[in-house]
Amino acid sequence: MKIAIIGGTGGQGLGIAIRFVQSGEDVIIGSRTMEKAQAAVDKVKELLEKDKIPNLKAAENSDAAKEADLMVLTVPLAAQRSTCLSIKEGAAGKIVMDATGPLESAIGGSPTRCLYLPEGAASERSQKVLPDSKVICAFNNISSGALMNFNEPIDCDCLISGDDQEAKITVAKLIDKLPGVQTVDCGPLERAQIIEKITPLLIGLNIKKTCKDAGIRITGIDPECKLY
Ligand SMILES: NC(=O)c1ccc[n+]([C@@H]2O[C@H](COP(=O)([O-])OP(=O)(O)OC[C@H]3O[C@@H](n4cnc5c(N)ncnc54)[C@H](OP(=O)(O)O)[C@@H]3O)[C@@H](O)[C@H]2O)c1
Repeated sequence: MKIAIIGGTGGQGLGIAIRFVQSGEDVIIGSRTMEKAQAAVDKVKELLEKDKIPNLKAAENSDAAKEADLMVLTVPLAAQRSTCLSIKEGAAGKIVMDATGPLESAIGGSPTRCLYLPEGAASERSQKVLPDSKVICAFNNISSGALMNFNEPIDCDCLISGDDQEAKITVAKLIDKLPGVQTVDCGPLERAQIIEKITPLLIGLNIKKTCKDAGIRITGIDPECKLY
């Protein structure tokens, strides 16, 4: 699978890129500029202590979306709409995993509080801007710290939601390959309204130092209810 990380130069995107590179996927780190994308690729090489990583490359966001089979959106809420518009053509017909957190910090408030968007969830907002794509809410509750601690398994489930069952199966098969992660299908995309609100809770626990890189686990899942 060729996966583009749209806005992959920040902490969340870089962490997801590294994890997918490690699991053997082809990864394109996307950015608004080729220079920043290339610098992020160089950073990954430095972190993984490799001169060459054949399954990793850099591209501008719109080109990354066109080339990829599917993508992950990792930009702040304030950049979500413009970034979605910039990838609209390339993302048509494809899966877009959306990690956008609707945090109050997007308008100068606290990262431990949510914004209530007219569209519902941030992922529902992406779906409205990208009607021809299959948006799946994913990676909202996994912290960049846990992702970037790439020599350790990730101590967090990946709660996903979306309206396209086949797309969720594809996403679950990819994410379940990441060490420590269990993908949990939470239902239709509107459930992202709940998934996304867990993130400010986890951030608050980190700030209070109750946890480091707090995550969430869902227990008691019937194996018969797995997506595949
Ligand atoms: N960090 C976490 O632990 C975490 C956990 C769960 C969910 N999330 C969510 O994941 C998303 C990314 O988080 P992050 O911490 O990686 O964010 P970030 O570092 O602030 O931003 C990520 C990238 O977005 C692009 N960007 C920033 N401002 C932009 C703008 N005004 N217009 C267009 N692009 C812009 C930049 O890429 P270029 O300049 O290279 O284009 C930047 O490197 C957020 O929605 C966050 O809520 C984060």
